[in-house]
Amino acid sequence: MSGAAQRRAHLQAMGIQAWVRRDGGSPLAAGEAAQDAAPPVAGGEVLEAGEAVVARVAKPQATAAHETAAPEAHVDEQPLPAEPPVPDVRSEPSASPREEMPVASVDTPPGIDVDALDWDALQATVARCAACELHATRTQTVFGTGNRNADWMIVGEAPGVDEDRQGEPFVGRAGQLLNNMLRAIGLQREQVYIANVIKCRPPNNRNPHVDEISQCLGYLQRQIALVKPRLILVVGRVAAHGLLKVDTPLGELRGQVYRFCDTPVVVTYHPAYLLRTPRDKAKSWDDLRFAQRVAEGRDGGGGQT
Ligand code: URA
Repeated sequence: MSGAAQRRAHLQAMGIQAWVRRDGGSPLAAGEAAQDAAPPVAGGEVLEAGEAVVARVAKPQATAAHETAAPEAHVDEQPLPAEPPVPDVRSEPSASPREEMPVASVDTPPGIDVDALDWDALQATVARCAACELHATRTQTVFGTGNRNADWMIVGEAPGVDEDRQGEPFVGRAGQLLNNMLRAIGLQREQVYIANVIKCRPPNNRNPHVDEISQCLGYLQRQIALVKPRLILVVGRVAAHGLLKVDTPLGELRGQVYRFCDTPVVVTYHPAYLLRTPRDKAKSWDDLRFAQRVAEGRDGGGGQT
């Protein structure tokens, strides 16, 4: 298969319609603009597909606050409508509380210098962690998986029912979509390192509490220090808020480069949210390409710390 055909296949695997350039160039993902037949945007690429004109800008635009991701925790475990009547998130109130979030300080189990642990000791410490109440309801901890020397680290929220059962992050439906998203930018799951901000499943897939995140974050911080990735891709609002200690709606976090322990961080939608809101897959494709440029040092993204 040619490179372009392969890319088209991966975009389709992500559920994104690929538009073929008349000049034979690379296919691009068609977003909402396709349906809206949006007019050409200054500075953007303009493609034609059938009768629709697709206008795209080169860099993902931070979306408006009202495009905040809806609550997304572990949607892969919740029954999805057969053909989802796509919720109009634009008309929903922000899922993110606007008031200041209490800042989660790193507060790992007393008596353990997590920063001194190697991989085996870290994993063993996580496996017997009882620092918060989540230990009482977990089947097992979900430490992380993948290449411990990866350039890319993917950070999600918390294990769901499948992950709790299997002991590996992102193995449910959201995980399948995450794999497709990675493949779309030429990465195999095994090439990246995948972990969550929380290592134990919150009961009934509720959002993790601030104190639970603060008690777990030291483990992730140590994982990041050991992997030393070139880029951290954070998926979803809860993970982004937990890691970056901000309260900014997800739509505003997109298209920016943040830093966590000196490592560039790019934020995109959680795959479980994308399963519910497929029309935002094109935006996540923009985010992935932006992350790719950041990882390759081709885009500083206007940097925030
Ligand atoms: N959602 C997450 O954020 N992490 C997982 O591991 C699975 C689903």
